[in-house]
Amino acid sequence: MKSPIFAPYPATRFRRIKNRAETRALVRENTLTTDDLIWPVFICDGENVEQSVPSMPGVMRRSVDLIAEAAKEAADLGIPAICLFPYTDPDLKTSDCAEAWNPNNLSNRATRAIKKAVPNIAIMTDVALDPYNIDGHDGFVVDGKILNDETVEALVRQTLSQAEAGTDIIGPSDMMDGRIGAMRVALEAHGHTNVMIMSYAAKYASTFYGPFRDAVGASGALQGDKKSYQMDPANSDEAIRLVARDLSEGADMVMVKPGMPYLDVCRRVKDQFGVPTYAYQVSGEYAMLQAAAQNGWLDQDRVMLESLMSFKRAGCDGILTYFAPAAARVLAKR
Ligand code: PBG
Repeated sequence: MKSPIFAPYPATRFRRIKNRAETRALVRENTLTTDDLIWPVFICDGENVEQSVPSMPGVMRRSVDLIAEAAKEAADLGIPAICLFPYTDPDLKTSDCAEAWNPNNLSNRATRAIKKAVPNIAIMTDVALDPYNIDGHDGFVVDGKILNDETVEALVRQTLSQAEAGTDIIGPSDMMDGRIGAMRVALEAHGHTNVMIMSYAAKYASTFYGPFRDAVGASGALQGDKKSYQMDPANSDEAIRLVARDLSEGADMVMVKPGMPYLDVCRRVKDQFGVPTYAYQVSGEYAMLQAAAQNGWLDQDRVMLESLMSFKRAGCDGILTYFAPAAARVLAKR
């Protein structure tokens, strides 16, 4: 703990150091830079297709050709990583989720296109069955129950197909037990020794995911809720146990999700483990800020940067945010 001792007023005046920009800069405890940003993007089928997502103003689904262009722009802005989420054609959704490990599925095609066109951006891909599942769940559903161990086997297949396609970072967002260890063993066994895993370790059963489910076309599909595998928003000790578990199984980085409502969890994770820690500023958080900005109720650029800085203050090393290109543009002007 830093010393709380200070001389009483007027010997100490907190306003002295605030009086000019230079000394405010000098005492600033945290910084936000473009290096901190991971940009989640949505991919759709077709060529030269760009579809807006109404519940996420400013966010597009893009076909593979345009995603490669977007990745190039992101890399040119200095954004270190892009995270791919496919909008899967409803006809390809099945209860066995086989599209998830199809070497030519949207996610894998986008990975190959970006790798070829933009070698200087890291690619993160999503591992979970929900974009491919007729039931909209992250795992196999039998009699209304989500199967754990059978799902983990499928997630391993999905992981290997993404590694084959050339992904850099596997992002398991599924919350099944034992998946990190199973993925790590499979990656090592198949020679993918440098493929990283960023575990969605503390992922809450959150209402803030609503707009994302619109974006990937899972909203209509989802039966029930995800409370039997995602975390209870009332818990935080459990988050610590989950992070410990995933690190012990071979996660390289861990994530807390959503972000702003769970900054206390970010701080606990960073303090306890001191490992690379990320927050996902999810679709609902983005939608709230954008909606207010569109109404003229909040200043868009400022509230964006303030929200992103809050993650740095909470101990995060980086943030997955739909604001990534907008934030990078504003930061580049400073
Ligand atoms: C599902 C997944 C979700 C998000 C990322 N992966 C939603 C869910 O769990 O239902 C949410 C991201 C966001 O809201 O921006 N595997």
